[in-house]
Amino acid sequence: MIHFTINGQAKALDVEDDTPLLWVIREQLGLTGTKFGCGVGVCGACTVLLNGKPVRTCILPVVVASGAEITTIEGLDHPVQEAWLEEQVPQCGYCQSGQLMAASALLDEIRQPTDGDIDERMTNLCRCATYDRIRKGIHNASAKMPEPPPEPVEETSPEDAPADGGE
Ligand code: FES
Ligand code: FES
Repeated sequence: MIHFTINGQAKALDVEDDTPLLWVIREQLGLTGTKFGCGVGVCGACTVLLNGKPVRTCILPVVVASGAEITTIEGLDHPVQEAWLEEQVPQCGYCQSGQLMAASALLDEIRQPTDGDIDERMTNLCRCATYDRIRKGIHNASAKMPEPPPEPVEETSPEDAPADGGE
């Protein structure tokens, strides 16, 4: 029995340990927004977040996800989605759930990525070659990212104060 949380819901599934996670997500859980493309870990159509990191589920045995938190496109709530609509990124759309998952993970790690960061991290393939719009979508989403919480201010103890009151 494999246990994990997916899109905030706890699941316990009786599956073979080496079943690809993609099969479990699509066939057993019915979450068909995650797509099958190459099946060999190259195209990224099958990308989901595993504990916040993008993974290619067509080659990931489900046992690796044991105890993990998984997010699929059905559970994504991120500025990339609005940005993708504004920039009209998709063409046929087939690769786009994977692109969105990868882009959200990139922005969660680097709030203001450069074009170089995008080119380096966005390795998902798109047969419609929407790469320019993907880049625009990421920059658009970057401007919508919430401000990070302020750094905690270090408190000074009375012992740190100068003995003469600082005069
Ligand atoms: S279907 Fe998984 S990487 Fe292509
Ligand atoms: S939008 Fe068609 S494959 Fe990417």
